Amino acid sequence: MSPSSLPVDPFDLVIFGGTGDLAVRKLLPALFHRFVDGQIPASSRIIGIAREALDDDGYRELLRTSLSGTVDATQLDAFLQQVAYRSLDARKDEGWADFAALIKAQPDHVRVFYLSTSPELFVDICARLGQYELNKGASRVVMEKPIGRDLASANQINDAVGRVFDESQTFRIDHYLGKETVQNLLALRFGNALFEPLWNAGHIDHVQITVAETLGVGHRGAYYDRAGALRDMVQNHMLQLLCMVAMEPPSSLAPDAVRDEKLKVLHSLKTIDDSNAAQLTVRGQYRAGVAEGASVPGYPDELGHGKSNTETFVALKAEIANWRWAGVPFYLRTGKRLPNRVSEIVVAFKPVPHSIFDSAAGPLAQNRLVLRLQPDEGVKLWLTIKHPGPGGLRLRHVPLDMSFAEAFGVQQPDAYERLLLDVVRGNPTLFMRRDEVEAAWRWADPILAAWAASGEAPRPYAAGSWGPSAAVALIERDGRTWNDDSE
Ligand code: BG6
Repeated sequence: MSPSSLPVDPFDLVIFGGTGDLAVRKLLPALFHRFVDGQIPASSRIIGIAREALDDDGYRELLRTSLSGTVDATQLDAFLQQVAYRSLDARKDEGWADFAALIKAQPDHVRVFYLSTSPELFVDICARLGQYELNKGASRVVMEKPIGRDLASANQINDAVGRVFDESQTFRIDHYLGKETVQNLLALRFGNALFEPLWNAGHIDHVQITVAETLGVGHRGAYYDRAGALRDMVQNHMLQLLCMVAMEPPSSLAPDAVRDEKLKVLHSLKTIDDSNAAQLTVRGQYRAGVAEGASVPGYPDELGHGKSNTETFVALKAEIANWRWAGVPFYLRTGKRLPNRVSEIVVAFKPVPHSIFDSAAGPLAQNRLVLRLQPDEGVKLWLTIKHPGPGGLRLRHVPLDMSFAEAFGVQQPDAYERLLLDVVRGNPTLFMRRDEVEAAWRWADPILAAWAASGEAPRPYAAGSWGPSAAVALIERDGRTWNDDSE
């Protein structure tokens, strides 16, 4: 067995937006888990940056509150000793010289600058990092999505960041690529002889990708209302999942080998614009309803201003115009305030060409490979078998079910744990290259333009439902249904 975690060189990880939701809820817990696993070298430093007037102890207290609970207090204390805080404003000079001196005190450390702020600040922060010559040696910048709100704004950001950091130093994070099941897709597709011969339009009927959340937008309304589900989830996470399913086998796991193949998929996506958006896309917005057993307000009320044209749900039918996938629809669906938190990729195979069974045997169902990303990560392969026992030959559709937690007896690490250390190691395989982000916007922009031009409001759906009925009609028109694993 190879070791479960590889050592990394001592590093300084600077988190801009250090008091924000992502830093406190995801990044710091991920780093803490790596610390507990012994993967954070003792001299490494984690430095939170935000405008709030806190000192090191104040920041540690803030983190202690959010990290404590299930964790060992002694280990937490030891971890927090490696954490510091600086109050800085990207648009003001104050404090930057001191911060630069702090970083330069460890010239041999790998430097990671994590931009977990709103994208408008990426440009100012990078300009400062350049001005104070902090982009030297083994330094890298990490950009959180969304990178811009369309192709033009993404280009502006990428150009500005590119003036300070090379593309090889730039890590555009899409945390879905760090999820265990997504990486497992690589293992399943390219580590088994079984699937690849069938992985094409000759044998696959369609693919479904669902990312359903039960939560509403909560306190992220200000960001979300300017973004909406297409920019927040589809342009990045869901297209990346689609690429991992659809790409040709890369020649190796070398970063550009994988990213070249993903890029070809993005370039092959058929355009959805005002000529076909009404048939191929559905936008929805949640209204009051019941989620996780409690009454919840609708999206406009949650925002506080009672009115919004932003979608909190999208379903769409994408197609990839190449030899492997011609005619195979990829149905994508994502939304907030849906009945269950479930993310999955379903690969539905074509039916057998001829049935030898009589009608008493029951219907023949299609084989489906279901890759569950969450909540319980695993793989199910739905097969047709004979119902055991006497009484004639009756067919049953049953899953070969492998839950990773049960199979390996371990809690899967959070996606950020893997990705943060990949940045420190300088491995960009699971990060988006600039041309991928651009290609994804090139596909998303005409959809956004078509929606804007139509002037139609998103279709309302009750919180706790599976979105507007038009999303069901979208797939049923093609004689197919959304996957329901309970069947
Ligand atoms: C983020 C989106 O990128 O992903 C959020 O901005 C969304 O709106 C989140 O809730 C979902 O991530 P996960 O890992 O909880 O599925």
